[in-house]
Amino acid sequence: MRIDIVSIFPGYFDALELSLLGKAKQKGLLDIAVHDLRDHAHDRHRTVDDTPAGGGAGMVMKPEPWGEALDAIIDGSEAPLIIFPSPAGQVFDQRMARELATEEHLVFGCGRYEGIDQRVFEEYAERGRVRLVSLGDYVLNGGEVATIAMIEAIGRLLPGVVGNPESLVEESHEEDGLLEYPSYTKPASWRGREVPPVLLSGNHAAIAAWRRERSIERTREMRPELLPRELRGEPRGRHAAD
Ligand code: ADE
Repeated sequence: MRIDIVSIFPGYFDALELSLLGKAKQKGLLDIAVHDLRDHAHDRHRTVDDTPAGGGAGMVMKPEPWGEALDAIIDGSEAPLIIFPSPAGQVFDQRMARELATEEHLVFGCGRYEGIDQRVFEEYAERGRVRLVSLGDYVLNGGEVATIAMIEAIGRLLPGVVGNPESLVEESHEEDGLLEYPSYTKPASWRGREVPPVLLSGNHAAIAAWRRERSIERTREMRPELLPRELRGEPRGRHAAD
């Protein structure tokens, strides 16, 4: 997969050299290029923002550097999907990560300040595919951290990135939508706290049943809205008139 990132803080993306994603880059499974938006601002101060039309607080990113930066990336490329991280976008989740992992070429445009001039979204939506994507219902200072989170979630789904593909299957938000069960390792006893005996029993059916119960219990407690209907255990004896 090819990924281009446009940002005024390219240094954020040094983190992508680490760990599994860094290895994936070295192996050629992921080809990531980071572009400094200021390279496309041509005044003495390399200005990328200006005051909002209509007045108000903050600054808005100017369209010209964005146009030049994105044109240079798109040129010669077959219709990449352009993602603009934004709190006004569709909320990112595991399903979206799986969908985006099937793309050949993603471009992330990291806005700052009060956002990017709206005409940039319109221009590229007309010429190709554009998505506004939010990491969640809170406000970050810009799209960089959201982009790193999305690339990590997407990158680890690419074939060959995670060593043991089975570890992708039993995770939270995968398969049945339940949260993952709690994990333990050795020693069997630590500070008077024991590994649940069933996990040391060697009885694989009992272990699988225990794990599923813990997953359901944890999901019911932490994220009841994720529970499949048949596991919701609606309170009994309620009537429409109650
Ligand atoms: N930029 C600022 N806040 C954001 C959020 N919640 N998600 C994605 N991009 C953002």
